[in-house]
Amino acid sequence: MSKYHSKSIPDLDQPLIRFTHSHDDDWTVRDAVSGTQIFGGIGAGKSSGSGKTIAKAFLKNGFGGLVLCAKPDERSNWERYARETGREQDLIIFSEDSDYEFNPLEYEMTRGGKGAGEVFNLTNLFMEIYKMGNRLSGGGNSGESERYWDNALRRCINRMIQLLTLAKEDISIRNMRKLLSSTPLEHEVEGLGEMSEEEISEWGQSNYCIGCIIKAGENAETAEEEEEYTLISDYFLREFATLPEKTRPTIVESFLGLAEPFNSGILKKHFSQNTNLRPELSHEGKIIILDFPVKEYLQAGVYAQGIYKLLWQQATERRNQDQELLPIFIWVDEAQLFLSDYDQIFQTTARSSRACTVFLSQNISNYYTSIGGRSPKPKVDSLLGNLGTKIFHANNDAVTNEWAARTIGKAFINVSGMSIGNTQSSSFNQQLHFQVEPKEFTILKNGGDRNKLEVEGIVTIASRKWSTGMNYMKIIFSQ
Ligand SMILES: Nc1ncnc2c1ncn2[C@@H]1O[C@H](COP(=O)(O)OP(=O)(O)OP(=O)(O)O)[C@@H](O)[C@H]1O
Ligand SMILES: [Mg+2]
Repeated sequence: MSKYHSKSIPDLDQPLIRFTHSHDDDWTVRDAVSGTQIFGGIGAGKSSGSGKTIAKAFLKNGFGGLVLCAKPDERSNWERYARETGREQDLIIFSEDSDYEFNPLEYEMTRGGKGAGEVFNLTNLFMEIYKMGNRLSGGGNSGESERYWDNALRRCINRMIQLLTLAKEDISIRNMRKLLSSTPLEHEVEGLGEMSEEEISEWGQSNYCIGCIIKAGENAETAEEEEEYTLISDYFLREFATLPEKTRPTIVESFLGLAEPFNSGILKKHFSQNTNLRPELSHEGKIIILDFPVKEYLQAGVYAQGIYKLLWQQATERRNQDQELLPIFIWVDEAQLFLSDYDQIFQTTARSSRACTVFLSQNISNYYTSIGGRSPKPKVDSLLGNLGTKIFHANNDAVTNEWAARTIGKAFINVSGMSIGNTQSSSFNQQLHFQVEPKEFTILKNGGDRNKLEVEGIVTIASRKWSTGMNYMKIIFSQ
């Protein structure tokens, strides 16, 4: 257990960062649990400026956390931050050469809390992995036809898990592959009615799917189990066997496609067998670094970290809120690589589970692309709307700069003018203008020696009136 855990747990009003001498300008635990989004172009100073400041504030205050790694230097950055804040003991580096393992299926079945091992939750986990794969291949989803395929796949996964459970077989990707590749075809089930019990049982010896159905039938005892058995056998012996020509191979391909990455490399070695690194460790003050940088591990890195992220978020939502909770954080640089629909859901309960989300990305267009589909905008806007603190660094992306200007909003600004009448007089004309014009974001200081290691960021926090009376403030972060 972390030595920080015995220290008093910071309450919501505890300042984490003091931007100015005025307490009105403090960034508190309350702000942190409302979520943070940092935008800024390449080399704008996100990681080394505001990012570092926030990261070290979390560590200094004893927070536990989860760090996703997009770039190879993320791990060494955190090792340095931990050294500088006396938190080295609490770092856990989950990397290829470590002995840590996390099998998402096993974890989901054996974890504490309600709903553990429920078919619905396991199916959701698979569907999230599937969507992650889709996003990686540049698609995103939604659209009518995609939804049809999604539902067909979801149902198939659901039935496979139900069948394996009732047959008392291990729920593993391996067994699911075996099942799918042995589901009987239409002509095979046609003669089923005329087959003797012996013949069926013989068939079950050589066909995994039929074997499971027989076992499931034997194991079904309660009325509920009988009902489930009927549902499952109907599915595999009728529905699935008689699916239209294109449907069946598409479902099989989708499943095999999502299972494929788990057959080799880090996913096979570290994410498909045992579990000895539970996300809950961060609740006790440990900081788990998922050192599988996407720049090196590519797709496998996204899968590994995306799955861990999702189950970490769900574990965090299960925290017992009857007791005082140590704040924890999730750190996602290059967040566009790891966005999921679940982020939005998670963010709505983050405050009560004392979870501080920090997303860093170059621009908002990254998010639109990552969410994909026909109308990604409302989804992205809604997610960003739920991240209370927004920090904008130097940026050349017009979409982001305009979005930032709109987020901070307009105000009546005095524009001086001359009115020429009978007598000349100067007057002030009030006009509605952006408080920070889009172009102002293009000239913020981006650190480095020529800026004396100063990074400028425009910070706005939902419902915050700063000591200046404004709803935003330009802050200097030192590198
Ligand atoms: N300690 C330092 N001393 C001098 N220059 C630094 C220091 N730390 C970072 N820099 C420079 O400051 C700039 C901002 O770097 P930083 O990595 O924080 O940008 P970023 O916004 O995270 O970019 P990216 O989108 O590429 O991750 C870079 O040019 C970097 O080389
Ligand atoms: Mg960076």
